[in-house]
Formats: sequence, C-alpha cells, structure tokens
Amino acid sequence: MCGIVGYIGNSNAVDTIVKGLTRLEYRGYDSAGVAVPDGDDIVIIRAEGKLENLRKALEGKKINSNMGIGHTRWATHGRPSEANAHPHRSGHIALVHNGIVENYLALKQELVEKGYKFTSDTDTEVLAHLIEVFYKGSLPEAVRKATEKVRGSYALAVISSKEPDKIVVTRKDSPLVIGVSPSTGEYLAISDIPAALFITRDFLTLNEGEMAVLTGNGARLYDSSGAEVYRRTKHIDWDPAMAEKAGYDDFMLKEIHEQPHTIIDTLRGKVVPDAGKVVLGELSALEGSVSKIERILVLACGTSWHSGLLGKIFIEKYAHIPVEVEIASEYPNRDLPLNENILCICVSQSGETADTKSAMRAAKSRGGKIVAMCNVVGSAIANEADYVLYTHAGPEISVASTKAFMSQAMTFLLLALWLGEKRKITDNNVISSALDEVLRLPEKIGQLLETAQEIKAVAEVYKNTKHFMYLGRHYNCPIAYEGSLKLKETTYIHAEAYASGELKHGPIAMLDENFPVMAFAPAGKVRDKIFSNLQEAKARGSKVIAIMSESSRGDHPECDHQLYVPECSEEQSPFLTVIVAQLFAYFTAKGLGKDVDKPRNLAKSVTVE
Ligand code: M6R
Repeated sequence: MCGIVGYIGNSNAVDTIVKGLTRLEYRGYDSAGVAVPDGDDIVIIRAEGKLENLRKALEGKKINSNMGIGHTRWATHGRPSEANAHPHRSGHIALVHNGIVENYLALKQELVEKGYKFTSDTDTEVLAHLIEVFYKGSLPEAVRKATEKVRGSYALAVISSKEPDKIVVTRKDSPLVIGVSPSTGEYLAISDIPAALFITRDFLTLNEGEMAVLTGNGARLYDSSGAEVYRRTKHIDWDPAMAEKAGYDDFMLKEIHEQPHTIIDTLRGKVVPDAGKVVLGELSALEGSVSKIERILVLACGTSWHSGLLGKIFIEKYAHIPVEVEIASEYPNRDLPLNENILCICVSQSGETADTKSAMRAAKSRGGKIVAMCNVVGSAIANEADYVLYTHAGPEISVASTKAFMSQAMTFLLLALWLGEKRKITDNNVISSALDEVLRLPEKIGQLLETAQEIKAVAEVYKNTKHFMYLGRHYNCPIAYEGSLKLKETTYIHAEAYASGELKHGPIAMLDENFPVMAFAPAGKVRDKIFSNLQEAKARGSKVIAIMSESSRGDHPECDHQLYVPECSEEQSPFLTVIVAQLFAYFTAKGLGKDVDKPRNLAKSVTVE
C-alpha cells in the first residue's frame, strides 16, 4: 500500500521525508521518490526498489528546501519502475497519490486530446495534468476542481513551484492524517500516525473529501465546498511499535480486521449490481473465446490453493465449466497436454511462489492459456502470465494469510459470474442478486468481528489440546482446510481437515475425548448432514464446536460450543465462516504465547521449490 509524507517546517525537508517514508516501509512498496521546490522549479528524485536506492540517488545532491512531498509506491497500475514511481508532475505541479483513479482511461483520453504527454503508465499522472488544467492562480482551488472529476479513491499531497509556501492535501477512501507541532513550527501530511511520531503526537483527522492546506504557520482544513472547518487536534499515546499496527497487537489481527475494506477494494470498479454485471476489463481480450473454454485448471499452494477450491465451486455453479484444482508443486510431474481452450488460473498472493511459478511455466509449455490471480503488482507470476487479475488486498505482512484469501475468494466469485454471463449460463437477475449480497458482506464482517471475544473464550478452552479435527461440506469444505492450516501454522497444534462426509471412512478412528472437532455448519442444504456427522463424533467422546448461522441460535444444544455468523446465503457463508477460523487460530496462538506474525519454520513468500 502506498505511503505519503508531506513536510513543511524548519528542518531539511528531504531528510525528514525520507525518515517518514522509512517508518512507512512496513506497508510494502516497490519504488519511492521525493519532490521539493527549488527556485522557480521543482526537483523530483525517484528510484525503483528499496528506499536505500532512493537514498543513493539523493547522495551528493544539496537540496536545502524545508518543504516537500515524498512517496513509497505499491504498484496498482503500471509495473514497478522509476518512471511509474511518484511524485508525478505536470509543469509547475508535482503530486503524490495513494488510491485508484477508476475513470483514469477516460480522463487520460481527454488530456491527450488537450495535448498532454504522459510519461508513466499510472492512473495518478492524470491527476497532475488535471490540476494543471484547472490551475488559475490558486492551488487549493485547482485541486478541488480536479478531484471533482475523479471517480475512485485518493489521498493526495500536491505542491506547485508557483506557490512554494504550501502543501495542499485531500483524501477520499484512502488514509491521510495531519501531524501538527506548533511549538517547533512543523506540519506533516502522512499516511498513518506511527510514521509521524518522531515529530509529533498531535494530529488532525481529515474526513472524506476534506482538504488541508499546510504552511509554515499551521494547517487549515476545508470541507469539499471550500468552507473552512475547525477541528481539535488529537493526542496519541501509542508507543511506535504498537502504532505501526494501528493499535492492534499483531499484523495478523490488523489484517483480519481489514477484511471489510479488502472486499470493497477487490470489488472496486468491477461490479454494476443494478445491471447484474461484472466488469473484468483485464480479461476483455478473452471475451471472444470464453464460449470455447473446455475446462479450467487452478494451480496454487497453501491458502491460495484453498481459495481455488472455493473458486471451483463458484465457477462450476455459475459458468458450468469443469474446474480442477491442482497443488502447484505436483502439477509439473503430470504428463497431460493442454490446449488454448484450457484456462490455467495461477493463484498467488505474492506472485513469487516458486512452486506456482514452475507450475505456470509447465502449463504454458503444454499449451494452456494463463491467467494470473495475484496481489502483488509486477510480481514474476503476474509478469509471465497471458492475463492478470489483481486481487487488491493491499500488502499482507503476517505470514499467515487472511485478507489475501478473502480477496482471492471474492475474485473467484466475480470471475465465475463474469464467465457465467459471457457463456449465457447465468442471467443478469441472478448476478444482480449475488452482487447485492456481496455488497452487504463488509457490514456483516464488521458485525462478526465484534463477536471476537466469544471466539477468544472458546480458543482459551482448547488452547492446550494436542489435536483438532476441522470439518465442512460443499462451500465450507475449503474453509475447513483453510481453518486447519491457520491453526497449524500459528499454534503448531496438529489439525486435520476433511470433507465431513469422509469422517466415517477412516479419520473417525482417531476421535476421542482428546480430539475436539470444529465444524463449519451455517444454514443451507448440507447443514443437517454435517450435524449427523457431528453426532458420530460426539458418540466417540469428541468435544464439538459448531460454527452456525445466527438464525440457528440455540439449535443443536448437543454441541459443546456454538459460534455464530450473520445470516447470509449458503454460497456466501465462507466469506464469514473463514473469519471465525482465522480468529480462533489467532487467539489460540496468542493464548500459547506464539509469535503469530512470524511462525517458526515459515516464510511469507516461499521462493524455493
Ligand atoms: O504467495 P502465495 O499465495 O503464492 O503463497 C502460497 C502459500 O505459501 C501461502 O498461502 C501459505 O500457505 C500461507 N502461509 C498460509 O497462511
């Protein structure tokens, strides 16, 4: 996720901005840059890769300004490169941006017709040109007019060599706060609070659509109509380590709580619920051949493989295409030719997993058409694929994947609906009601997260168990797999996962009073069968935790513990039940004193086969 620092004060701006950017490094980034006024001009210095490269690029340059803007970029449009790094400029304007300009193609076309030349592949560059178009002597006014034309999300910090005494910042659906230190005469605009604690602990928040103008004399806030807004500063007591995690104890917990927003980011620009349409512009070149797809092969590892298992159910239901989900490390050993009517979907959060990369190359060499489903833009798998669907989960720091799963599962659902419509299997009314429900998920996830203490209480009861059995059917079978993986990797407890119908075909032999069972049993067609399986487990002495729908509250008192998810269709229940599994693993690991963000023996990105 991009990081923004704007600074005006009495220290060297470049040094201060780089210090701020260093504190934003944990958000993840692939390039960085700074811009400061220099006489009648603006100096911009950018570098691809780590901040170390920017520091090297700055070496020996004597830049003595006391105001400027800086940025760490996490690519969304255009691969990581110096040309795509921020700040971007247009004449006397330079700016940094966090967010996505959804209508950038239309805006770009208008600007090209006006004679503007583009030097990057980013959506951000349109903002720089638009602000220059609207500039008539007032930078705040030009920024306001430009943002009125923008659809999407933004946090912006803008400077102009014509008004070198101010930084104009504004935000909508992207974070940005204002740090103030009147005693030292320093003011900052920054993506999050922790990165500013080396200068101040006093902050002004910016509401949606509001603007701040920072000068050496202070920070003034304005609403979207330009009227001045008066707000008290907030004093922050967090210690810096805690603040980096936005007040959460661990990145895993923070990322679990980010999931309502993850869904919004994954859906952004892709759904038109009233028309019953999913728009996947990235796959538009595939549209003509969708009716010819014979089958789909999903290749992935770990959590990404589990999202593929759920994707299979969605695609088969909505598009009637047979889907095979193969563990990436096993695929190269197979010996079956593919052809261009077999679509291979390579799923990887990092886009760098060696097993998935090898599987993708094997599938390509056998003649398959490759779609990468990745979170990290410009990653190896994204670069080598024929088409890329980005999941937009934002950087995931915790080794245990949580929000990446959410974004992949949602991307699979969108892909299934898109394929279903193109193949004329699913009509727009069905798509429309699926999308209506999807749009209600962020709120339901929010409600579910509020019940975290109930999940924690159950985790406390079982934290010393040596074994666990996870069960689920149909949509919730992949959640049983994913839940057991979360428990294994964060707590090191032995956890098995099965389709619940399989229990009686062997694994039931292990069950006794020391082998508890967690079952994902929300309302739906398969619920009663799961409860029959749970009776079998109870009869062997197992303790049972059932994850149920709110509407079933109080049913099945034979279960030792019941945890509830908000009401939803059976099909969308995995988006909720997975959160119970994630929190259960998290709280068990915390109860055992484990390092949840960095479990032993594991790496975030597995780059060896
Ligand atoms: O980056 P990828 O999605 O390709 O990573 C695949 C797996 O290594 C990853 O999902 C792993 O299983 C996670 N630690 C699970 O939490």
